Amino acid sequence: MNNHEAMILSARDVRKDYDMPTGTLEILRGVNIDVRSGEMLFVNGKSGSGKSTLLHLLGGLDRPTGGTIFFKGRDMTRMSERDLARVRSNSLGFVFQFYHLLPELTVYENVLLPTLLAKKKDPAWIKEVLKRVKLWNRRTHFPPELSGGEQQRVAIARALANSPDIVLCDEPTGNLDEETAASIMSLLTELNRNEGHSFIIVTHDEELAKTGTRTLRLHEGQLMPPEKIFNS
Ligand SMILES: Nc1ncnc2c1ncn2[C@@H]1O[C@H](COP(=O)(O)OP(=O)(O)O)[C@@H](O)[C@H]1O
Ligand SMILES: [Mg+2]
Repeated sequence: MNNHEAMILSARDVRKDYDMPTGTLEILRGVNIDVRSGEMLFVNGKSGSGKSTLLHLLGGLDRPTGGTIFFKGRDMTRMSERDLARVRSNSLGFVFQFYHLLPELTVYENVLLPTLLAKKKDPAWIKEVLKRVKLWNRRTHFPPELSGGEQQRVAIARALANSPDIVLCDEPTGNLDEETAASIMSLLTELNRNEGHSFIIVTHDEELAKTGTRTLRLHEGQLMPPEKIFNS
C-alpha cells in the first residue's frame, strides 16, 4: 500500500486559477492536505478565501487547474466524468448551507433517494441514519414542514445514506441561528466520535472551527495550521 492509499483524501500541490478579462485569479496556490478515516477536519478562512472551491475539488464536483487529488489512492483528476460521478455517489456525502432537499418528497424519501440512485437500497440503514439524526419520528413529513435545523439534519442523514467514506460540509450552519448551529455542530461531533463518520467541514466561523480533531486555515491560497498564521 502506498502512502496515498492510507488516506481517504490526499491533495498534492492543488491549484485553481480563474482566467478573467482583468488577468488570472490564483485562488488556490499549491494546497496540500491528507485526510484520514475518522477525522473531523475543519478548514477555516475568510469569506472569498477559496474554501468552497477547495471542497468542490476534493469532492470531485470540479477539477483543479494543477496538482493531483487522490481518493483512496486513485487519482481523481484523471478519472472520467462517469467514474467521478460513481465516486461521488457511492463514496462521498455532501452537506451544503441551504440543505437542497426535494420539497415534494418526504423526509424518508429524501434520504432514500441516493441509495436508489447508487443501487444500494437498505431500509434498515435508512432507519438507522434517521435515528442517528433524531428524525425517525418525522419521516413522513415534508421539508417545508420542518425548521431549518431539522432540514439540515435530513441533509446530514441523506449524506450518510450510502455509507460514504467521508462527508464534505460547506458552511453547514451558515443559515442557522446560533443555538441551532450549536446543536448541528454537536450532532456532527457525536456522529464523528460515537459512530466513526469522517467529515471535512469548511466554515468562515473561527469559533466553530475550534471543535474538530484538527483545524487548517486557508490563507493566501494555501493551507496551514492556525498557529503558523498567529506566530507570523
Ligand atoms: N467561476 C468562477 N469564476 C471566477 N472567480 C471565481 C469563480 N468561482 C469562485 N471564484 C472566486 O474565487 C474566490 C473564492 O471563492 P470561494 O471558494 O467561493 O470562497 P469561500 O467559499 O472561501 O467564500 C472568490 O474570490 C470568488 O469570487
Ligand atoms: Mg464558500
